Amino acid sequence: MDRRPVIVARGVSKRFMTHSSKATQLKERFVKGRGGASEEFWALRDVDVVVGEGETVGLIGPNGAGKSTLLKVLAGILRPTSGEVDVQGRIASLLELGAGFNGELTGRENVYLNAALLGLSRKEVDGLFDSIVEFSEQAPRIDDPVKHYSSGEYVKLAFSIAVHVDPDVLLVDEVLAVGDEAFARKCLAKIRDFQLAGKTILFVTHSLDLVTELCTRGIVVEHGRVQYDGDPAFAVGTLRKILGTDRPVGEPAAPVEIGGVVVHSAVASGIRGGGPVGRFSAGDPFHLRVHCEVLAGDEVYPGEVGVVVMGAGDIPVFSLRTPKGQGLPAVPGRYVVDFEVDAVPPLNGAFILGVQVDHAETGLPITARRFDDAIWVETGDLPGLLDVPAKAVVSPA
Ligand SMILES: Nc1ncnc2c1ncn2[C@@H]1O[C@H](COP(=O)(O)OP(=O)(O)O)[C@@H](O)[C@H]1O
Ligand SMILES: [Mg+2]
Repeated sequence: MDRRPVIVARGVSKRFMTHSSKATQLKERFVKGRGGASEEFWALRDVDVVVGEGETVGLIGPNGAGKSTLLKVLAGILRPTSGEVDVQGRIASLLELGAGFNGELTGRENVYLNAALLGLSRKEVDGLFDSIVEFSEQAPRIDDPVKHYSSGEYVKLAFSIAVHVDPDVLLVDEVLAVGDEAFARKCLAKIRDFQLAGKTILFVTHSLDLVTELCTRGIVVEHGRVQYDGDPAFAVGTLRKILGTDRPVGEPAAPVEIGGVVVHSAVASGIRGGGPVGRFSAGDPFHLRVHCEVLAGDEVYPGEVGVVVMGAGDIPVFSLRTPKGQGLPAVPGRYVVDFEVDAVPPLNGAFILGVQVDHAETGLPITARRFDDAIWVETGDLPGLLDVPAKAVVSPA
């Protein structure tokens, strides 16, 4: 990265001590004869994150992954158990509900208190006050104690303060989801303004579309560790994979291949049988030629040929398949399989190809091979699973 690093976390770990209060644990404690059992829990483990000036980074992960903890550590509200944190410039943060405001104070008092904590003088806040209140839509309530605010009202005021203090770095937790949709749109517009102004933004969200739409980078956190850091579409794909991997215990492992077919090559092109093409735009025709060979042997099987186009973390994005009964014949020889897709779907990012040949009758895998040479699709924005109309024809090579 050639941008000036603004947010730096190196080897950051955060341990919480949890005091169990469950009744079932009481007995254990009693039996063990201890006064108070406490367990340690690592909410962050060895996290390295460097965010450059002007980047917009989406931080995503399952619940309990450590996202809020990481934001609090970066905001200086929590001290890491080990590791180093350095954030340059004025940080405005919109963290979990409860962080930042004093419930006993009124909205007006909290505006002054918060802005002061961010380094603004009373005079500066005087100048911004009306605008903060207007944006927050809380004028009628501004002299009520914030403990009487709804969570939506609370977030509106907190967000308004955060964006009015001219921060260099904006840290936003998923609290935005608390407000109403109209306000969420207003906040997004503000975040876009910040982007254009070259501010550095790190935000946590459950809205994966927002990550691909808005972010220049996506970071996936799971179990307190960074699992992926890079392309936003890939980050989203990686999270989807994580969320989808909670398979029932005892799910069978992939069966062993039975062999007898070799996949020699897979060449993507803009025309049938054309030279290799690596970059596509959404809507382009997409042709894929697979060369395979049915080997002579004691057992020769009819094979169906399938191609899986996979995004980050090997997430299938779409798949192509020879029609039933029209795959590789049980006749040794070389074959080409041409797949034709009329229009590349509106994907965005790099994709890899997996070619798999399955027994046409039993469905057992005969062989599989992956081609890591990425196909790039630009101009689109879909990282998901798609149903794409396509044709496939097998002919002797
Ligand atoms: N103050 C705390 N004491 C003990 N455990 C905590 C504390 N704060 C967070 N945790 C635990 O740390 C883990 C990560 O929490 P959090 O950062 O809030 O996750 P996320 O925001 O990704 O949902 C969770 O298992 C949570 O229960
Ligand atoms: Mg959280």
